[in-house]
Amino acid sequence: MAASRVFCLLAFTLLAVFFTVSCHNITQILSESPDYSSFNSYLSQTKLSDEINSRTTITVLVLNNDAMSSLAGKHPLSVIKTALSLLVLLDYYDPLKLHKISQGTTLTTTLYQTTGRAAGNAGFVNVTDLKGGKVGFGSAAPGSNLDANYTKSVKQIPYNISILEINAPIIAPGILTAPAPSNNMTGLLEKAGCKTFASMLVSSGVLKTYESTVQKGGLTVFAPSDEGFKSEGAAPDLTKLTQAEVVSLLEYHALAEYKPKGSLKINKDVISTLATNGAGKYDLTTSTSGDEVTLHTGVGPSRVADTVVDETPLVIFKVDKVLLPVELFGKSPSPAPEPVSAPSPTSASTPSPAKSPSPTKKPSPSPTKEPSPVAASPSPPAPPVDESSEGAAPSDSPTSLENSHAKNAAFHVNTPAYFTALVTLAATSLLI
Ligand SMILES: *[C@@H]1O[C@H](CO)[C@@H](O)[C@H](O)[C@H]1NC(C)=O
Ligand SMILES: *[C@@H]1O[C@H](CO)[C@@H](O)[C@H](O)[C@H]1NC(C)=O
Ligand SMILES: *[C@@H]1O[C@H](CO)[C@@H](O)[C@H](O)[C@H]1NC(C)=O
Ligand SMILES: *[C@@H]1O[C@H](CO)[C@@H](O)[C@H](O)[C@H]1NC(C)=O
Ligand SMILES: *[C@@H]1O[C@H](CO)[C@@H](O)[C@H](O)[C@H]1NC(C)=O
Repeated sequence: MAASRVFCLLAFTLLAVFFTVSCHNITQILSESPDYSSFNSYLSQTKLSDEINSRTTITVLVLNNDAMSSLAGKHPLSVIKTALSLLVLLDYYDPLKLHKISQGTTLTTTLYQTTGRAAGNAGFVNVTDLKGGKVGFGSAAPGSNLDANYTKSVKQIPYNISILEINAPIIAPGILTAPAPSNNMTGLLEKAGCKTFASMLVSSGVLKTYESTVQKGGLTVFAPSDEGFKSEGAAPDLTKLTQAEVVSLLEYHALAEYKPKGSLKINKDVISTLATNGAGKYDLTTSTSGDEVTLHTGVGPSRVADTVVDETPLVIFKVDKVLLPVELFGKSPSPAPEPVSAPSPTSASTPSPAKSPSPTKKPSPSPTKEPSPVAASPSPPAPPVDESSEGAAPSDSPTSLENSHAKNAAFHVNTPAYFTALVTLAATSLLI
């Protein structure tokens, strides 16, 4: 009896671990009602959905298609993103709590506040309990009205996420008329302390590729800081690269999609870059520790230090090291020692979710965005010999994608069985 209780407890503990990472999927929840299709689509386009899924203890104020029509298609995506980020409250309000606000009125922090661009009180929302059971919402900026009223509850997962419908957007002063984001990438890069990178983009002509990629729908840039080109020992010897290789290296520093910080934080996939093609994979993986994201090339890690600009569909991050693709830097001239799989002390505390399919994923296998193994047909270069600095087992390097595919497959097959076994055991223990 006692033993079975202990076992039951153990099973539940394992279940808790099982569900820790991805506990809700806003896209999935809202897709259950066609009333929110426009709102849901904009959450995905602006990648606010990733940001919402990476957080707990939040409230999302949703607009039905009617209420959304005052924003949809009428403003640039970057403006709509700001307006929608004002509707994500960093606190949990269920209908009960809404009607129990002390003093009847309160200010609450929104996702807009976390961007660091909200002036004064503009990143906060005023929630006020009105007479007659109504609850009003408005910008906390002085002189603002209560723009919207609560209409109904959509869903609650206590105390992780609450979804409430309101009848109009909340508009903070100035957000709809925000000046068009600067499209001068070199100017932005220079100001951010990435002059070397900026000048290489110009002299190689890769800047044009970047610019046309933004036009095509989205671009993410990982710009190494000027220090990253100098840092002792870690800086690459670019003089040995051919012109074509420099182009590949620079293309390796960008993705043909808009992937802001929240999306990088929950990323589990192998990411293709602009340099990805049939001849070389030139891909990346990520790991997350708290709010910190690290990129892994297979040769060495590079920390995402700063967001230089995040204006949908363009995001530029400053990274602390040049990203070295194994396709260009993997072949070390030194005699290849057997790669040591012991993690280095520096990265031991940040296990990469992309590298070890831990049982934290949902049981249902989602379609992965990994490049198909076909891309590997022109045989890839030898595996990197210096993985020790990345603290990853050699088989986890991007050059052995087949291997990780196999692992993933095994994971997808095994997980539901593992899950079922736990549930069965837990249920059995309860019955005893
Ligand atoms: C809420 O989120 C936590 C992780 O922060 C998770 O462990 C828990 O299972 C979630 N609760 C529900 C009901 O999904
Ligand atoms: C969330 O749900 C959507 C729609 O069902 C799905 O396409 C997407 O892959 C899911 N995201 C995650 C992180 O599971
Ligand atoms: C919220 O707005 C209402 C109406 O404009 C105002 O009376 C109230 O003081 C505001 N609440 C806070 C906490 O500022
Ligand atoms: C919200 O409700 C109040 C009180 O009934 C009403 O005066 C106000 O016009 C409503 N606002 C909106 C935006 O519906
Ligand atoms: C972009 O910014 C740089 C540096 O601030 C400046 O030299 C250049 O003329 C600008 N280019 C355009 C097209 O405005």
